Amino acid sequence: MSKIIVNKLDKKSTINKNIYGNFSEHLGRCIYNGIFVGEDSSIPNVNGMRTDVVEALKNIKLPVLRWPGGCFADEYHWKDGIGPKENRKRMVNTNWGGVVEDNSFGTHEFMEFCRQVGCEPYINGNMGSGTVQEMSEWVEYMTFDGESPMANLRRANGQDQPWKVKYFCVGNESWGCGGNMRPQYYADLYRHYQTFLRNYGDNKLYKIAVGPNTADYQWTETLMKQAGNYMNAMTLHYYTVPGPWDHKGSATQFTEEEYYLTLKKAAFMDELVTKHSQIMDRYDPDHKVDLLVDEWGTWFDVEPGTNPGFLYQQNSMRDAMVAAISLNIFNQHSDRVAMANIAQLCNVLQAVVLTEGDKMVLTPTYHVFDLFKSHQGATLLGSYAETKEIGTEEDKVQNLSVSASEDKDGVVHVTVANLSATESCPVELDLLGQQLSSVTGRILTGAVDAYNDFDAPNQVSIQTMEGIVVENGEAKFSLPACSVAELTLG
Ligand code: AHR
Repeated sequence: MSKIIVNKLDKKSTINKNIYGNFSEHLGRCIYNGIFVGEDSSIPNVNGMRTDVVEALKNIKLPVLRWPGGCFADEYHWKDGIGPKENRKRMVNTNWGGVVEDNSFGTHEFMEFCRQVGCEPYINGNMGSGTVQEMSEWVEYMTFDGESPMANLRRANGQDQPWKVKYFCVGNESWGCGGNMRPQYYADLYRHYQTFLRNYGDNKLYKIAVGPNTADYQWTETLMKQAGNYMNAMTLHYYTVPGPWDHKGSATQFTEEEYYLTLKKAAFMDELVTKHSQIMDRYDPDHKVDLLVDEWGTWFDVEPGTNPGFLYQQNSMRDAMVAAISLNIFNQHSDRVAMANIAQLCNVLQAVVLTEGDKMVLTPTYHVFDLFKSHQGATLLGSYAETKEIGTEEDKVQNLSVSASEDKDGVVHVTVANLSATESCPVELDLLGQQLSSVTGRILTGAVDAYNDFDAPNQVSIQTMEGIVVENGEAKFSLPACSVAELTLG
C-alpha cells in the first residue's frame, strides 16, 4: 500500500497553462499533411486546416503553439511565406530530409491555425542566418497597427488588423544547429537582436533567449550573467533518448530494461530543472525570468521504411509514462517553469496526434494531456507520495509520480502515474484541509508497448476508474501496472 497526501492548505505557485503547450516545425509531416492540407483537399478542413486535428487540440485545451522551428527556424525567411501562394519561394529544407518547402504555410496560415484552435502563437525568430532587420520587420509585420512599410504589406496580403503576438524567441539551439555559438557570443547577439524587437501599440512582447542544452550549466550561468536583464525567459531543451544517437531504439519494440532506462532518463528532467533554476536564482532571485522547456519528449528510431529526416515514430504507453512524469515535474516546478512545449504536435517525435491520409489517431501521449488538463491555470498544492524504488539493477525509478492542484472553483485534481511495468499499486489518499467525501477518476492503462494505430485507433484510451472507495475521509483505490490517472476530489 502506498500513501499519497495532498495538502489543500499548502497552496504554492500557479501552474501556468502554457506548460501544456506544443511545438510545430516544418519537419516531415508535421505541418504539411499533418495540420495543413490546403483548401482544395478532400480531407475535411477549414481554410486548409484539418478539422479533425483542430477539434482534437481544442479538446485538450492546447494553450500555446511554437512555430516554425526548431532548426528550421534559423533558416526560415518569413517573407518567403507571405503573399500569393503561386509567387512564394520554393526552398530546400536542409535540416529535415532535403525536401522542397513551398512555403504555402506561412505567417498568415499559422495565425489562422492558432485562431481555429484557440491557442496563442509562439514565434521563433531566425538569428542563425537572418538579419536584425529581418527579425525586427517580422514583428512589425505581425503587430503594428499604424502606417508603416510592413503593416501596409500585411494589409496588402489580406490581414487588416495586426495579430497579438506575445511569445518571441531569438534563435533556436544557438549552441548547435542555430549557429554553433559559444554562450558569450550568443548573449551579446541576443542583446543586440532583441533591442530591435519593438512593442507596437498595446502589443507587449515577451522576449525569450535560447537557453541551455540539457545539463550545460555553463551556458545558463553565462547567459543569465550577461543578458539576464534583457529577457523575460530562457529556454531549456532536453529529449529522452534511451540509446546512443545512432541506435536510439524502437518506439514500440523494447525490453523491460529499455522501458525503465527510458523512464529514468525522463525523470532526469527534475534534476535539470532544479539545477538550472538554482543558477537562475543567483542572478534573478525574484523569479522575473521564466524557464521555458520549449522542446522535450521521447526521441526514438524512425518507423521502418519512413524517411529518416522526417522523425516519424509511433507512440506507446511508455510515451504516456514519460509524458506523465514530465508534466508532473513541470507542475512541481511551476514557480520557475512557465511554459513547456512537447516535440512535436503531429507525426514528429512524441506526437499527440498521428495522421495518414484522412485518418487520425490520438496517441497515448494525447490522452495524458487530456488527463492533466485540469491543472492548467490551477494552484499547485503541496503533495507527498510514499514511493519505492523499482526497475532493474542499473536503472531504478520511484514507482509513483504525482502532482496536485486546486482549480478556480476550489476542486482538487491529482494526477498520478504507476511506473511499474508489471505490478499494480494499492493507494491510500488523504486530503488535508477538507473532508473528503467523494472521489472520481479517469485512467489510462495498458501494456508498456500498447499503442494506437490507424487500423486499431482505440487500443489505449481513457476509461472511468472503477473501485474507488471513500471511507472515514480517506480514498482507497488500485492503480494497475503502467497507468496514469486523474482523480477529482470532492
Ligand atoms: O524537434 C526536432 C529538433 O530537435 C529541433 O528542430 C531542434 O531544435 C532539436 O534539436
